[in-house]
Amino acid sequence: MGFRKDFVWGSATASYQVEGAAYEDGKGLNIWDVFCQEPGKIYQGQNGDVSCDQYHLYKQDIADMKEMGQKAYRFSLSWARILPDGEGEPNAAGLAYYDALIDELLRQGIEPYVTLYHWDLPYALHQKGGWLNPDMPRIFEQYAALVSRHFSDRVKYFFTLNEPQCAAGLGYYTGDHAPGLKVGKRDFFAVWRNLLLAHGLGVKALRENAKQPIQVGAAPCSALYYPASDRPEDIEAARTAMFTLPSRDVNDFIWSIASWCDPVFFGRFPQDAVDYFGDCLPQLTKEEAAIIAQPLDFYGQNMYNAVMVRAGKDGKPERVERYDGFPKTAIQWPVTPECMYWAPKFLYERYQKPFLITENGMSSHDWVALDGKVHDSSRVDFMHRYLREYRRAAEDGVDLMGYLAWSSLDNFEWAYGYSERFGLIYVDYQTQKRTWKDSAYFYQETIRANGDNL
Ligand code: NOJ
Repeated sequence: MGFRKDFVWGSATASYQVEGAAYEDGKGLNIWDVFCQEPGKIYQGQNGDVSCDQYHLYKQDIADMKEMGQKAYRFSLSWARILPDGEGEPNAAGLAYYDALIDELLRQGIEPYVTLYHWDLPYALHQKGGWLNPDMPRIFEQYAALVSRHFSDRVKYFFTLNEPQCAAGLGYYTGDHAPGLKVGKRDFFAVWRNLLLAHGLGVKALRENAKQPIQVGAAPCSALYYPASDRPEDIEAARTAMFTLPSRDVNDFIWSIASWCDPVFFGRFPQDAVDYFGDCLPQLTKEEAAIIAQPLDFYGQNMYNAVMVRAGKDGKPERVERYDGFPKTAIQWPVTPECMYWAPKFLYERYQKPFLITENGMSSHDWVALDGKVHDSSRVDFMHRYLREYRRAAEDGVDLMGYLAWSSLDNFEWAYGYSERFGLIYVDYQTQKRTWKDSAYFYQETIRANGDNL
């Protein structure tokens, strides 16, 4: 037994990271267009103006996905390309671009998985307060309704928000991402609340306007935990760590999965969040809680690494420090394949939905070798190890829908610019030439074998 027969193998990107064409065909400005112009925010002052130019090269990129055997492509819509002011009149050329992209995917037998929001808020909405604006949930609802009316005759899978934790935490609390604000605690929680409500209203609007039965989910991220051993105490410690706050620090609230997913699935904040942040945590009315907790069809999670914990003397979770020289990727993230077994297991136990990895992968400082190929042996090994653990979760009874690799091709890695390459396909940004990395061939073989080669 391995992955189920209809397991979905695919890959993912996001509009600002791959499209380029930042000033073409009536697209409005978004907060990343503007943030990238601020000195010191992005590695070497780079930006997504051109990136891998998927706006013009989408047919070629889809042909690569097809040849690799991919069954689904998760991409995001540039809100400002569709609605240059974020609301009001849609831009026909923006809709036409996504029509063409979707039609080409369908022609090639690849299911479009559409994310509504992957961080590139229309700048016009930022000028009205961005996610601090209490009207934002309603504005997002209208955008979601438009997307559903226009695309759901062909698109069956939708995702509301990508990593709302980053949008709120990095965008408004630490200021590392656009719009680069560092608001206080109370305002931060207002952003959190607006994102939660936007998600819920978005789910409703997608469903109410759908032209056929659709599946709706999201793609959150979070800190993840795995046990130091198979001892029941350690497993319990990891499970506890996964769903409780280690401290009263707002950063711990941001990265704890329950801070986002408990409201989304249960309509309430976890009790420890209420205890720690009671004075400024949003009070949700019954009606708001019901909006936020719209039933979802599956549980999506972006997943890269996790923290090892064991049971301390008092049984409480205790972080196990990583030894010197612990394996890590180019971006300095630890290599912890165990997260692919334990996180789906814990998340499935708690939220009880078919599970989908909406992103997983690694950055390495790849280049084209003398033989013209890209030998990313570390990524091949990473995928092999991670997918093996993921298959173990399937064999243990976790209902796994699929796996979406991050990323289909190298692209603009936010504050890191082009310095970090996460793609299965190498992009030469001077010429736009694409070269399959060794990992792309490995992925092709894995898809062909439905994971039985692992
Ligand atoms: C999460 C984000 O959704 C994506 O945009 C980013 O490039 C990858 N992780 C890698 O950092």
